[in-house]
Amino acid sequence: MSVAELFDSMDYGPAPEAAGRINAWLDERDRKFGHFIGGEWREPNSATWFDSVNPATEETLAQIAQGNEADVSAAVEAARRAQPAWAAKTGHERARVLYALARLVQRHSQFLAVLETMDNGKPIRETRDIDIPLVARHFYHHAGWAQLMEREFAGTEPVGVAGQIIPWNFPLLMLAWKVAPALAAGNTVVLKPAEFTSLTALLFADLCVEAGVPPGTLNIVTGDGATGELIVRHPGLDKIAFTGSTEVGRLIREATAGRGKKLSLELGGKSPFVVFDDADLDGTVEGVVDAIWFNQGQVCCAGSRLLVQESVAENLYGKLRARMNTLRVGDPLDKAVDIGAIVAPVQLQRIDALVKQGVDEGATLWQPEWAKPKEGYFYPPTLFTGVAPSATIAAEEIFGPVLVAMTFRTPAESVALANNTRYGLAASVWTENINLALDIAPQLKAGVVWINSTNQFDAAVGFGGYRESGFGREGGLEGLWEYRRPAYEESLPAYEMSASGPPASLRPLPDAIDRTAKMYIGGKQARPDSGFSRTVFGPQRNPVGEVGDGNRKDIRNAVEAASKAESWSRATAHNRAQILYYIAENLEARHAEFTDRVAAQTGVAPDAGRREVEKSIARLFAYAAWADKYDGAVHSPPVRDITIAMNEPVGILALICPYEVPLLGLVSLVAPAVAMGNRVIAVPSERHPLSATDLYQVFDTSDVPGGVVNIVTGARDDLAEVLAGHGEVDGIWYVGSAAGSAAVERASIGNLKQTWVNNGRRRDWFDDVLAEGREFLRHATQVKNIWVPYGE
Ligand code: NAI
Repeated sequence: MSVAELFDSMDYGPAPEAAGRINAWLDERDRKFGHFIGGEWREPNSATWFDSVNPATEETLAQIAQGNEADVSAAVEAARRAQPAWAAKTGHERARVLYALARLVQRHSQFLAVLETMDNGKPIRETRDIDIPLVARHFYHHAGWAQLMEREFAGTEPVGVAGQIIPWNFPLLMLAWKVAPALAAGNTVVLKPAEFTSLTALLFADLCVEAGVPPGTLNIVTGDGATGELIVRHPGLDKIAFTGSTEVGRLIREATAGRGKKLSLELGGKSPFVVFDDADLDGTVEGVVDAIWFNQGQVCCAGSRLLVQESVAENLYGKLRARMNTLRVGDPLDKAVDIGAIVAPVQLQRIDALVKQGVDEGATLWQPEWAKPKEGYFYPPTLFTGVAPSATIAAEEIFGPVLVAMTFRTPAESVALANNTRYGLAASVWTENINLALDIAPQLKAGVVWINSTNQFDAAVGFGGYRESGFGREGGLEGLWEYRRPAYEESLPAYEMSASGPPASLRPLPDAIDRTAKMYIGGKQARPDSGFSRTVFGPQRNPVGEVGDGNRKDIRNAVEAASKAESWSRATAHNRAQILYYIAENLEARHAEFTDRVAAQTGVAPDAGRREVEKSIARLFAYAAWADKYDGAVHSPPVRDITIAMNEPVGILALICPYEVPLLGLVSLVAPAVAMGNRVIAVPSERHPLSATDLYQVFDTSDVPGGVVNIVTGARDDLAEVLAGHGEVDGIWYVGSAAGSAAVERASIGNLKQTWVNNGRRRDWFDDVLAEGREFLRHATQVKNIWVPYGE
C-alpha cells in the first residue's frame, strides 16, 4: 500500500499496550486477593472468592474475596482504632502522606492505566490520559487541603469513620474522589470497590503501605452488593459515601435513615447536551464524541440526551453519522481504539434491551458498520433520532454508547426539555454566543454545566447532582464539608422526650367567638382544609388561642404556592436583603405585641420574651447582611477554563421548626432559607404556634411576595412526614425528636430530597455560633459549577 493510499484510508495497524507486567504482578499474587484490613492482607472470613474478568477478552484476571459480616466488622474496627491517631496528626503530617500517594500514583501511572484498562475494558487512551492523571491531581489537591485544614476549617472536626462504596465505571478515580478528601479531613475509611473492578483499588492498598499511610487508616473490603449493604448497615460508621445507581442510592437512604450518619449520594443522570443554531458544529461533533462515547457511555454525567435547535438538526446528525463511521471499536489496550468493552454481560444486556425498546417505541436507530471482536462485550456507537420526549430511552439512563436526539425551537423550549428529567447531574451548552450560554446555564437544573465543552473534571471543582442524581458534592471546598462537622455538634444536649410531645388538643375553645389564627398560603390567610382547629394553651394550660389543624391538602396547596413563587429564586440578593430588613423593621414596630405573645404562650418572663423578639430582629438583620455576601467562587482548573461556582437555592424547602422559642426558632430557619432564594413551607412550633401566625401579618406588610413563605400549623411530625414525602419539595430541615428525624429521612426517599435533621439534639437558638451563619447558608444552597472555556 502506498503512502498516498494510507492517507486515503487512514487505516491504522494495531498498537497494543503490553500486558506483560500486569500479568507478572497478578501471577506474583497467585491471582488471588484477600481484603486489606489494618494495613495488612487478610484471607476473607467467608473463604469465598469470585472471578474478576477482563471484559475485552473474557479471561479471568484474578479471584477477588467476597466480604462477609466478619470481614466488614474487622475493617470497621481497624478504622475506628486508627481514627483518633490519624485525626490527631497535624495537617502537615497528613499532607505529607497524601503527597506521597500522589507521587506514587504518578510513578506507577502506566502500570495503573494498563491494569485499569484490563480490568474495566475502557480504552488505554482514557486511563492513561484522563483517569490516572486525575487520580494524581486529586491526591495533590487534597494534600493541600490537609495542610490548610487547621486554619481553614477552624471550629470543625473530622466526621470519624467513613464507609465508601464505589462503582465500576471509573474505578481508581472514584476511589480517589472518596479517599483523598476523607483522609485529608482526618477521617479513616472502609472502602468497597465494585465487584467488576477491584484490582486497581487493591494495588492502591500496596501504594498506601509504601506511602506510610498508618495501618487501619484505609481499609479495603471487596465483594458485591451484599458486602456493600453490610457496610451501609454497620453501626460503627459515621458517614456513608456512595456512587452508583439511583436504585441502590434509595436503598442506602432507607438503610441509613435515623441512624445519625452523614450521607452523600452521587447517582445516575440523563444529562442534556444542548446545541444552539450558532454553535460551531464541527467542534460540537467532537463534544458529542466525548459526551457519550467516552468510556463507552458508562458515565453518570454522560451527555446522553442531544437537544438540537431544529434548524441545524439534520446538518448535525449528518456530521455525527460521518464521525461515528470513524470511531474504532475494539481492543481497549490498543492506543488507537476509541471505544472499548462494556464492563460486563449484564450491562450489555441492559443496553441491548433499552435499544430494542427505543426501536419498538418508534425512534429511528442508526449505527455505523462495525466488526464485533470475536471475544469480549462490545457495543457499537448508536444514535437515535426522532425520539419523543416521553419515550423510555429519553428518560432512562442507558449507561452505554447510546445517544438519543430531540429538537427544540427556542431557548425557553431548550431549557424546558433539558429540565424534563428526574435527574440533575450535568449539562452541556453549545453556542458561540456567550450571552446566551450564560443565560441558559443557571436555568438548567444540574450540578455541573459545561459551556462548549463536556466531561471536564478537576479536584478543585465540586461535582454532584440535583434531584434524583443525589446530594452532596465531591471535590473542591464544598466536597470537604462532607468529611468535617461542627465541633460543637457532638456535645449538643438531647431534647427531653416529654418536651417534644403533642401540645394542643382538638377541644374547641369555651366561647364561640372565632379566634382561630389562619394558616398562610400563597400570601393569603387560609382556613384549614380539615375544618378543625387546635387550641393553643399557655403555661398554666390556659387556652390562649386557636390555630388551624393542617393536613395533607393544606401542604399540597402550600407547595403549589411555593412552586408558583419561583421568581423569588431569581430575585437579586440585594432585593432579598431589602425585604429581610423590612421584615425586621416591621417586627420592631410591633415589638411589644410580639413580646407579650411569646410570654403568654411560653410563660417566660417579659424580659425573656423581649430578648427573644430582639434576637429575632438581629437574626433577620444577620441574614439580610448575608444575602449578598454568601457568594460563590471562581475556580481555575489546570486547563484553559474558568469555573464559576454559584451558590444556588435548593428550591422549595420545608422547615420544621423547634417547639421552644417559637418566634426565634421560626426566624432562625426561615431567614437563611429565603435569604438564599428558597421558597419555604414552615411548620411552626406545634406547642406555641401563635408567634408564627402573628408573623404573617408582618410578612404581609413587608413586601414578601406571596408564596415565598407559607405557614401550615398543626401536628408537627405528621406534617413533616407529608412534606418529606412530597415530590416537589427539594429539601427539608427538621428540628424535633430523634424519632421524627428518622421518619423524615425515611419519607424523603421518593425524590431523594436533601434532608437536614437534628437527630433529637437541641441547640441554643440564642447562641450565634450554634444557630446562625454559614452552616445554615450551606444547607440553604447547592453549588453549581459552570465551566467556561476561553481562548481560540
Ligand atoms: P450499583 O449501584 O448496583 O453498584 C454500585 C456499587 O454499589 C457497587 O460497588 C455495588 O457492589 C454496590 N452495591 C450494590 N447494591 C448495594 C446495596 N444494596 N448496598 C450497598 N452497596 C451496593 O450499579 P450496577 O448494578 O453496577 O449498575 C446498574 C446501573 O447503575 C447502571 O446501568 C447505571 O445505570 C447505574 N450506575 C451508575 C453509576 C454512576 O456513576 N452514577 C455507576 C454505576 C452504575
